[in-house]
Amino acid sequence: MKERILSVALIVVMVVSLTFTGCGSGGPSDGGEKQEGAKTIGVAMPTQSSERWIKDGRNMKARLEELGYDVFLQYAEDDVQVQLAQIETMIAKRVDCLVVAAVDSSALINALQTAKEVGIPVISYDRLLMNTDAVSYYASFDNEGVGRKIGEYIEEKAGLKEATEPQTIEFFMGSPDDNNAVLLYKGVMSVLQKYLDDGTLVCRSGRTSFDDTCILRWSQEVALQNCENYLSGFYADEKLDICCSAFDGFAYGIKAALEAAGYTKEDWPIITGQDAEVMAVKNIINGKQTATIFKNTELLAEKCAGMVQAINEGSEPEINDTETYDNGKMVVPSYLCEPLSLDKDNYKELVIDSGYYKEEEIQNAD
Ligand code: BGC
Repeated sequence: MKERILSVALIVVMVVSLTFTGCGSGGPSDGGEKQEGAKTIGVAMPTQSSERWIKDGRNMKARLEELGYDVFLQYAEDDVQVQLAQIETMIAKRVDCLVVAAVDSSALINALQTAKEVGIPVISYDRLLMNTDAVSYYASFDNEGVGRKIGEYIEEKAGLKEATEPQTIEFFMGSPDDNNAVLLYKGVMSVLQKYLDDGTLVCRSGRTSFDDTCILRWSQEVALQNCENYLSGFYADEKLDICCSAFDGFAYGIKAALEAAGYTKEDWPIITGQDAEVMAVKNIINGKQTATIFKNTELLAEKCAGMVQAINEGSEPEINDTETYDNGKMVVPSYLCEPLSLDKDNYKELVIDSGYYKEEEIQNAD
């Protein structure tokens, strides 16, 4: 009997310690040393399937640890229920602050309400947490600005202002459960809609609305399939000139579809993206992607960690926008970083000279 009690006790200790170390997906300090008396920050990231979020997690952890916090970093691999469970665990552990980049924020409303009730402040990281008043601050980029920059890049590169011949275009927009995707589309269309209306741009598939062009969970595979379908269904007799893509991951899928359809350097379309991933920069240098949007996620992490620090100290964090980000329940005070267009002409200055990437990282990307 005593032995049984002992082994039950042992199992309880093991379960508790596994729970608290996050069981392989990033425990307190994510493998680092637990700092004596340090506060713990729960950081919930959406996925490791794209480079930007890996970098975001790494940057957040580093900045917070520099400030003396323990970090409980978890990735949900784009699974809504997994992320919900991770956040519930963070709340059960009574982390001192939650930083959340949601997979689908509609699934998190009740959990965030609980966080509020038990006094855990929540910061929305890059993606706005919608329909909740449980969020204190938002750290992101000017997301409509990202779309506007993509639209302006296409306008300039395709010479739309002075075009005499129509050019063909297809759209690859972001995930419908991500507010950023909706804003990006709005920004793109604030520039390109007039060219669709006057026939300067022609979309043979007819798919120009957000609902018709959005891609759930930003899936590269779906972008590839959509592109294949467009090429075989609408571009058998003429070339596709422009792929308005909202994400570097889509650009990789589009590239694969174009190569399979026999497109070459000579008739390669303009392809945009977002995130300036190392692979995308390499493709830009090699002429297989035309442009991307560089979002300095190191700066984002620094601003977000500053918000955590201010909340914990009871001071005012740095914000630069108190009007734009209405999540349906409240206008969330935000710090918005500036997105920048990156192409062959300025990539050196933006990401190499600035030290953001090393030249070898780009060469070795695959
Ligand atoms: C981010 C983008 C990213 C996309 C896909 C969006 O919420 O703002 O930078 O490309 O998610 O991961």
